[in-house]
Amino acid sequence: MNSLVTKCLFLLVMTLIIKTLLLPNSVSIRVFQNDEFKPGNARMKFLEVPQIVWGLNNQKIAFARACLTARMLNRSLLMPSLSASLFYKEIDRLEPISFDKVFDFERFNSLCDGFVRVSQYSDIGNRSNLLKVQKGSGRRWTVERDLDQLKEFSKQDYDVYETIRIMGKNPFLWHDHWPVSDYAKVFECLVLVDEISKDANEVVSKIREFGSEMKQDRLYRTPYVAIHMRIEKDWMIHCKKLEQRSNVSNICSSKEEIIARVANIRVLKPPTILYLAVANELLEDDTILNGWKEGMHPFDKKRLGLTEFYNNHSYLIQAAIDYEVCLKADVFVGNSYSTFSSLLVLERTQKIIKTGVSHACGNNVRWPSYAYNIEGESGDPPLWMTNLSDSSLHAISYGSNSISC
Ligand SMILES: *[C@@H]1O[C@H](CO)[C@@H](O)[C@H](O)[C@H]1NC(C)=O
Ligand SMILES: *[C@@H]1O[C@H](CO)[C@@H](O)[C@H](O)[C@H]1NC(C)=O
Ligand SMILES: *[C@@H]1O[C@H](CO)[C@@H](O)[C@H](O)[C@H]1NC(C)=O
Ligand SMILES: *[C@@H]1O[C@H](CO)[C@@H](O)[C@H](O)[C@H]1NC(C)=O
Ligand SMILES: *[C@@H]1O[C@H](CO)[C@@H](O)[C@H](O)[C@H]1NC(C)=O
Repeated sequence: MNSLVTKCLFLLVMTLIIKTLLLPNSVSIRVFQNDEFKPGNARMKFLEVPQIVWGLNNQKIAFARACLTARMLNRSLLMPSLSASLFYKEIDRLEPISFDKVFDFERFNSLCDGFVRVSQYSDIGNRSNLLKVQKGSGRRWTVERDLDQLKEFSKQDYDVYETIRIMGKNPFLWHDHWPVSDYAKVFECLVLVDEISKDANEVVSKIREFGSEMKQDRLYRTPYVAIHMRIEKDWMIHCKKLEQRSNVSNICSSKEEIIARVANIRVLKPPTILYLAVANELLEDDTILNGWKEGMHPFDKKRLGLTEFYNNHSYLIQAAIDYEVCLKADVFVGNSYSTFSSLLVLERTQKIIKTGVSHACGNNVRWPSYAYNIEGESGDPPLWMTNLSDSSLHAISYGSNSISC
């Protein structure tokens, strides 16, 4: 009896001891395993960047640059704030808007899977495990030094920091280290959220409606030409300065010059609808609908009856809708020095390449684009496509008249 009780007691004590010894271990193993399958696991690391600002396409470039920086650091980009309003200096009026209010977050990650990734702030496991990194600035902060800094922070020593937060300038002003094709890959993953693309489709159908009223041949759909008219006052001041500084004369185009060049595009047979993409409120000249060649029917937002429709949206969304309408146009005519025009031509070039055409400079190409600020041989604007093998985004977007045709 006695021995049995002792044995039982002994077993009980042993069980307790073993349990106490094993419990913390088994708990921590389970916690660790659970963590592994959560987005906020110890192995996922993040990059945080300052709010993204300025025009729609500067914001797109800045966003892509932040993604490519994160890719280089083997980190996921924490979903940045974009800016809904177009302000350059008044920082308190930038109206931050979350990335996923404009672009489809899930689509982005599924289209860009394996290349770059955007994460939610809720994915962060430990918000104090943060390293703040100041980007250098000034003349002495060269492209090489910037690249060296990125290489340094890609080292494994920094893996202990869950988040690296880059401080200072907005990503648009960072040095650039990536080829055009890398940017193009990121742009391809940017799909507008449903509400915005629905609104863009509404504008396109409105334009098509006007087109079908004036068509003469039932089989022939009236093409619409989108013209990005960079003639607003702010641009005119900027481009005149740029012309002086870079000693070239083909950056600024007046309304009259644009009208004359568009009239000379040989492939356009009347009737044609012209959609004039222009920021009405920045325009001093409200006569842009006058003077176009016969058979070319110009429409701006007002004439489409969409002023109120547009005014219902913030600057950023209006620009995103306009961008979409220009992207879908049968023909696009823009200014080779404008970022808005340049990114459009880049996306239209990608669209053409996907159909199996590698050189889009022929006269029978679908979705052609033209640069109105450059004079072609017979007074027409030359065809324009993006050289996707170019090594720098600068060469194909802002401050360049290279049109690769
Ligand atoms: C990049 O990070 C992932 C996990 O986030 C890790 O599995 C991989 O080994 C890392 N690659 C390099 C080259 O550090
Ligand atoms: C969070 O990170 C900080 C800084 O690395 C560290 O001191 C702290 O212990 C971490 N907290 C947890 C719960 O891991
Ligand atoms: C500007 O360009 C013109 C011809 O394109 C040239 O004759 C002139 O010397 C240039 N001026 C400067 C300051 O480079
Ligand atoms: C403006 O937005 C409101 C609310 O979203 C909507 O009810 C209204 O129809 C919109 N107006 C126009 C002209 O689109
Ligand atoms: C495209 O860019 C590459 C690299 O800069 C260059 O070698 C090539 O000649 C360019 N092609 C055209 C058509 O401009």
